Amino acid sequence: MNKLCLLGLLVSLASQTALAAAPAEPLKNKDAFISDLLKQMTVEEKIGQLRLISIGPEMPRELIRKEIAAGRIGGTFNSITRDENRPMQDAAINNSRLKIPMFFAYDVIHGHRTIFPISLGLASSWDMDAIARVGRTSAIEAASDGIDMTFAPMVDIARDPRWGRTSEGFGEDTYLVSRISRVMVESFQGQSPANADSIMAAVKHFALYGAVEGGRDYNTVDMSPAKMYNDYLPPYRAAIDAGAGGVMVALNSINGVPATSNTWLMNDLLRKEWGFKGVTVSDHGAIGELVRHGVAKDGREAAKLAIKAGIDLSMNDSLYGEDLPTLLKSGEVSQADLDNAVREILGAKYDMGLFKDPYVRIGQAKDDPADVYADSRLHRDTARDVARRSLVLLENRNQTLPLKKAGTIALVGPLADAPIDMMGSWAAAGRPKHSVTVRKGLETALGDKAKLVYAKGSNITADKAIVDYLNFLNFDAPEIIDDPRPAAVLIDEAVKAAQQSDVVVAVVGESRGMSHESSSRTSLEIPAAQRELIKALKATGKPLVLVLMNGRPLALAWEREQADAILETWFSGTEGGNAIADVLLGDYNPSGKLAITFPRSVGQIPMYYNHLRIGRPFTPGKPGNYTSQYFEEPNGPLYPFGYGLSYSDFSLSKLSLSAKTLKQGQNLDASVVVKNTGKRDGETVVQLYIQDVAASMSRPVKELKNFQKVMLKAGEERTLHFSIKADDLKFWNNQLQFAAEPGEFNVQIGLDSEAVQQQSFELL
Ligand code: BGC
Repeated sequence: MNKLCLLGLLVSLASQTALAAAPAEPLKNKDAFISDLLKQMTVEEKIGQLRLISIGPEMPRELIRKEIAAGRIGGTFNSITRDENRPMQDAAINNSRLKIPMFFAYDVIHGHRTIFPISLGLASSWDMDAIARVGRTSAIEAASDGIDMTFAPMVDIARDPRWGRTSEGFGEDTYLVSRISRVMVESFQGQSPANADSIMAAVKHFALYGAVEGGRDYNTVDMSPAKMYNDYLPPYRAAIDAGAGGVMVALNSINGVPATSNTWLMNDLLRKEWGFKGVTVSDHGAIGELVRHGVAKDGREAAKLAIKAGIDLSMNDSLYGEDLPTLLKSGEVSQADLDNAVREILGAKYDMGLFKDPYVRIGQAKDDPADVYADSRLHRDTARDVARRSLVLLENRNQTLPLKKAGTIALVGPLADAPIDMMGSWAAAGRPKHSVTVRKGLETALGDKAKLVYAKGSNITADKAIVDYLNFLNFDAPEIIDDPRPAAVLIDEAVKAAQQSDVVVAVVGESRGMSHESSSRTSLEIPAAQRELIKALKATGKPLVLVLMNGRPLALAWEREQADAILETWFSGTEGGNAIADVLLGDYNPSGKLAITFPRSVGQIPMYYNHLRIGRPFTPGKPGNYTSQYFEEPNGPLYPFGYGLSYSDFSLSKLSLSAKTLKQGQNLDASVVVKNTGKRDGETVVQLYIQDVAASMSRPVKELKNFQKVMLKAGEERTLHFSIKADDLKFWNNQLQFAAEPGEFNVQIGLDSEAVQQQSFELL
């Protein structure tokens, strides 16, 4: 009996006894173990390990099990229960020659069964503890469904909100996204990705996917090396440094070379410069797409380019299987090329603890949940708490909010009672039936204290072609459920509800599919059908609260004029409705801050706060010709990065620096007293930005370098200290040297990126 057969036997015995609860100890000598295994594998078995397939109707389960038994599949994704995964693992462990375990992956992006706010909402919490709870809870839920790996976090910097996948990332800022990237990886993987309650993180989409031209999904990216290194690459690097076991390679090209065939990206940068030791995986069908990118003449050449550039696992692509055998025979692909890829896949399986116990997450059938959809499997308290933290109060004139729990409230809008939309895109194993809608949340919170009158008021859009497009995105059920009544009838009903109420809450914005993969937009406006509704509500003269649901910045200049209060709620997840009710009714004081700039109009894009300095900047208050501006509308963002109101007011004292100079290797202390001058306890985010006054190349007008989220009781004040080191001042210059250049620096502190105060110091 060879070593693996013995191991398989031990493992199946172990899996019949108890599911490992304690942290799994890695087997000794990973390298030796894998080299030994590689020696026993045939070429066919090796190529089989490179194959990652999607579980779906196109491939019958019986056939999948046969393929696994024949050693022709390394892992699968999109199966989401232990029950589904166990027979596949059984096929590998009981029926395949070498008993190499399978692994099971899934897109666990912002929750698994409990759905948390979309990533852009999570980022708006600026709350690393809350985000860590999301990662950990998601890992626990996914692992207990037999999942070993997630294709997350998605840390693509997004500065063009036309891009639908803006919703999936953590916003526009390199520092904030990098911090979150680290927290997500650490919380998904826990103490070790081998643990029974951990999942391995495969960070994506490497690299620069958020910078696709025109915000058109899957498009090209053309970018200077300095911009890549300073702005777009650090979040991926942060994930690698935090120990992410996997990297998903992007669908876009980078300066003309598709990421999937990009040797510089995967070999020079990722492996050599960053020291990445894990597994790379292509995005869905990306190897075949090399032909369409025009860099491979056929599938055979595509397979060759991809493996040579460093793609280990091939996601839903048949080309490795079809073409590697002849490529190896002809010598165009070497044994070493193949072995390198297989080694990484086996290494990832090892790191996920699967060689020690292939059933570490699948467990035994007798322990399977009787009902995988049981409400008791959800983590509702965490979901509600995190969701509350992600909401951003954009406007609040005349203290319209919080609402009184008395009188009559009209609740209208196509998103007021929309369980699917609450979840947002990439809702993993979440189910709409578990979503608390805004209607449900308000009903529960109000009880019999106030009357709630509901009317839908409008459909998401009156554009049938858009509805058809969005419905096509969902295979299981229609995404958009249209009310067949004429628009005027819907509006009329809403107006009547408004007239009999003290205040109107209109829940409007995007359906979740509008902010999704392959959902780029040319406009950032709320669809016309909903604007008609808002207009009619405004005309009633009742105080109007807009509750926004959307996955990208919207152009809200017109809405800002109509509404008395605006609450940005993103797609806030399973407990979103309760969380929104908490904020609307003052049971929670909003503390979220935008993680992305809201432009005034689509024509201003790209608009992000940390743009490079220029020779003729537009200066608010001093407009004039020959400065960088648009002449048809006010310049600057509608809502800047870092902005968000509270029911409290906060003041900052004068910023004080501990010294006027900073030496390499030393620290400088920047301190400020923050005071809650309002009548309620509340949290705010104090943000620290730095500007390099004169450098060897133009540098951003400011860059976020640190922040602290603080809870202060009404009237309480606290001194906050920020330590500034020379390392914080480093940047990649045009020669790609990473250094801090001596000279003057401005330190800015504020409660958003615009309203800041400033002090200077000199780096010696
Ligand atoms: C997406 C990836 C995702 C993969 C698997 C692709 O279409 O670009 O982000 O992980 O599908 O679901």
